[in-house]
Amino acid sequence: MALPQQEDADKSGILEDFLSDPGYLYFLIQGDSEQVLQRLPDHAVDMCITSPPYWGQRKYEGESALGNEPRWQEYVTHLMSIFRHLKRVLKPDGSFWLNIGDTYVKKNLMGIPWRVALALQDDGWILRNAVVWDKMKGSPDNAKDKLRNVHEELFHFVLQPTYYYDVDAIRNEPGKPYYRDGRIVTPTGVSGAKYEQQIRKSKVLSETEKEAALAALADTLRKVEAGELPDFRMVIRGTQRSTHSDSTEYSGRASELKAKGFAILPYHKNGTKPGDIWHIIPEDQWRKDGHYAVFPLDLCELPIKATCPVGGIVLDPFAGTGTALVEAVMLGRRGIGIDSSRSYLSEAEKRLARVCAEQRQRVLAQGGLFDDGTISAETEKHKMPSRVLRKARQPRKPRRVSSNLGGATLPIPFEDLR
Ligand SMILES: C[S@@+](CC[C@H](N)C(=O)[O-])C[C@H]1O[C@@H](n2cnc3c(N)ncnc32)[C@H](O)[C@@H]1O
Repeated sequence: MALPQQEDADKSGILEDFLSDPGYLYFLIQGDSEQVLQRLPDHAVDMCITSPPYWGQRKYEGESALGNEPRWQEYVTHLMSIFRHLKRVLKPDGSFWLNIGDTYVKKNLMGIPWRVALALQDDGWILRNAVVWDKMKGSPDNAKDKLRNVHEELFHFVLQPTYYYDVDAIRNEPGKPYYRDGRIVTPTGVSGAKYEQQIRKSKVLSETEKEAALAALADTLRKVEAGELPDFRMVIRGTQRSTHSDSTEYSGRASELKAKGFAILPYHKNGTKPGDIWHIIPEDQWRKDGHYAVFPLDLCELPIKATCPVGGIVLDPFAGTGTALVEAVMLGRRGIGIDSSRSYLSEAEKRLARVCAEQRQRVLAQGGLFDDGTISAETEKHKMPSRVLRKARQPRKPRRVSSNLGGATLPIPFEDLR
């Protein structure tokens, strides 16, 4: 749908249309994010993932000086004033993922990501994870007195202690057990032989404890063989340490070791949780749009799967070429993108239109949004209203909306969004 231009259009209700109609997959707004955020309703989005301009790195199109402040303190204050609006726009059980890079001043690494993270904590946000994004290959660095910088931070913030988090959506699929010399071996190579030897040779365990430990080990291996348990580790008193502390005051595991002489640590049946170091090669292809600071799609995948329900809304207030929104749509979510640059947004629009067309084809061809045609299972799981499914199967309206609000880098006038 080619939308009317700013001069001849009545855009009242266009945002409400988007918010209330799950058939629309994305909405792009050109403007200064601080001002545009003020025009979004309370609790409108399920999660936010974004990468604002880094401090002192490059100058972006538009009037806002974000990133160009003379002092880092002003940059942090500027970001805080933007994120204060985000707090209102995010659902109370929503998540905020922030990717931010660092800067040297006179050889001094400023620690900007953590300065922002601490300011957000002071402002009431709860920091759940500080993910290290290992970019795997950095640019060449000829400085003779420091290491190459190859990581950035991705922070996960929430507003309250309980929040939406679908941990099963992000688990690593458990590997398969196999047999070696007639013994069952777990996917990470545990056959139990070493534990058995340690138990038998132990000078610390009593005979009764040894018997109980061997029986528990045999029972655990039987569960692995029967497919009831994907993997496990064992801790034996006097042989392995408990992970956090040997003090029974601090560690439940230490208490178990003291009482029984051993503990079985079972892996979760649906697979292990990913850790907080992610190895993702940055997007470094030459780009026609000239954007030099684009997210890799992979960086957005886990945050969206874990913290935005299927059919929910992902917001990127510094959307650039729309990577977070593209990933959101590919994963069956919807997206709102704000950016001050008209040219980046028009690139975002092209990418999103392509992805929506592919999604439509998929729905028509296989009756589902996902490769394995599991839309009904996903729908059931997340209790997506059945009308979403109907819409996906018979797209009557064009399934995209772009509020291309004329050439100005001004925010959307309030009356246009009512
Ligand atoms: C690091 S880039 C984000 C790139 C994006 N993640 C992508 O995948 O293309 C930061 C973006 O913030 C935009 N920007 C800078 N100041 C802004 C402001 N005050 N309001 C909205 N967008 C702004 C820039 O145009 C730029 O596209």
